[in-house]
Amino acid sequence: MFQTSLSTLLRKRRRPESTPAHPQQGKKFGEVIVYLVERRMGKSRRNFLTSLARSKGFCVDNTLSAEVTHIVAEGNPAHELWPWLQEQDVPHLDNTNVLDITWFTESMRAGRPVPVEEQHRIQKPSLQLKTCLPDTSLPTVSQYACQRRTTLDNRNKVLTDALEVLAENYEFNDSKGSCLGFRRAVSVLKSLTTALSCLQDAVDLPCLGEESKMVIEEILECGSSSRVDNILADERYQTLKLFTSVFGVGPKTAEKWYRIGLRSLEQIHSNSSIHFNRMQAAGFLYYEDISKPVTIAEAKAVGCIIEETASCYSSNVTISLTGGFCRGKEFGHDVDFILTVPEPGKEDGLLPAVIDTLRSQGILLYSDFQESTFDLNKLPSRRFEAMDHFEKCFLILKLQMGLVEGQQADPSRRRDWKAVRVDLVAPPADRYAFCLLGWTGSTQFERDLRRFARLERGMLLDNHALYDKTTNTFLQAKTEEDIFAHLGLDYIEPWQRNA
Ligand code: UTP
Ligand code: MN
Repeated sequence: MFQTSLSTLLRKRRRPESTPAHPQQGKKFGEVIVYLVERRMGKSRRNFLTSLARSKGFCVDNTLSAEVTHIVAEGNPAHELWPWLQEQDVPHLDNTNVLDITWFTESMRAGRPVPVEEQHRIQKPSLQLKTCLPDTSLPTVSQYACQRRTTLDNRNKVLTDALEVLAENYEFNDSKGSCLGFRRAVSVLKSLTTALSCLQDAVDLPCLGEESKMVIEEILECGSSSRVDNILADERYQTLKLFTSVFGVGPKTAEKWYRIGLRSLEQIHSNSSIHFNRMQAAGFLYYEDISKPVTIAEAKAVGCIIEETASCYSSNVTISLTGGFCRGKEFGHDVDFILTVPEPGKEDGLLPAVIDTLRSQGILLYSDFQESTFDLNKLPSRRFEAMDHFEKCFLILKLQMGLVEGQQADPSRRRDWKAVRVDLVAPPADRYAFCLLGWTGSTQFERDLRRFARLERGMLLDNHALYDKTTNTFLQAKTEEDIFAHLGLDYIEPWQRNA
């Protein structure tokens, strides 16, 4: 389970009590026995939540036995859940906690079972209520990703894959607005706990424009969309997709190469009129490796290298895994880490030292170091920038496969190492929470956090700070939870930010 293998990497990020040293033991809170209702939650999400809970030491029973103390359901209205529970002939049902997923989520966050409160309970409907007021209302879906919980268990992958092709194609055509519109639609669909079965299911959903709906309808009715199929078969789309898969090559450069008639990476390479910048040169040199996904085991091995390297600089450096792996992804295009030292300002010079050490170990294949341009006096920034001002570096490291846990020796490989993309960022300690929230992603989640802050709260949020325009003050935060609280948002766990 990736939660288990990640536990060591995550230990510095989470409070110690939330990640048990031996997650497999799973009996830390023996008095609480959880049963997750598969109905409406679905098998794969249930499996996911079960392993998550077990990795945190919770006891989860797969059967609805007499031992179960906490029954947890998601998306089940009381008038549906209770008759179903009664059909299961559960002994002592009236003495068992029947709870909404919010109790589970809060418990995962706390790393222990939180006390049951009234708002957690799915109340047994009284007979009178049942006949007069059936609760058929489904919870409404927010237009903001930061008010939705989006796990990796995507129930609408066929639809989101198709809409992502459209978004990407608009990006290649430099239509930012349309691209964003489709990305928003994708993100809403990813948050749903059930698969759409007809267009009618989508009527109340936000962010789905007419174009998105047409594609959805076509796929639900015919199994595929001719519009999407045409793009996939389009030479320009295929070529731009190939070119942008190279590290250092964005849509603009890809378009330039396409225009002069280039169609393959070999053609680019052998064209003497093309001059690569340093990043692109490295991108081509290590293409075979870095175009392959990084596995969680490889990320863990990189984490150990960075940890050892940074500890040569100071025993006070904290390494936190961030980015996609922190959201529970099993594969990534790179590995992202935040490095901090306790005293703000002392991080100055940390990354150059780390880079030097990596170089002297002979494992630095590429490095692009960016000095800090962070200036408290220049905040708040009103410009949305993908890049923040912290000291950071974009690296390619030579990872010895022998350091990767569970790695099978592959005699067909010509060499015993793999080139891996690694990003490091070193914010001042008092900026850590903002930096962590920004780098954990997903990109769509971040966009919506900022949009929500600005439009709903009159605040400016970026990777450096949160500024309240009404009171003209900066709001301080030590943890991500503090930032959600300042924004008046329910806390969303990293694994629920896969928007
Ligand atoms: P990534 O591009 O690494 O994405 O950026 P990811 O979610 O980890 O996905 P994979 O698995 O690698 O493909 C991680 C987050 O860091 C932010 C991005 O906006 C994204 O949300 N980021 C990246 C910054 O905030 N500043 C930067 O300079 C770079
Ligand atoms: Mn990443």
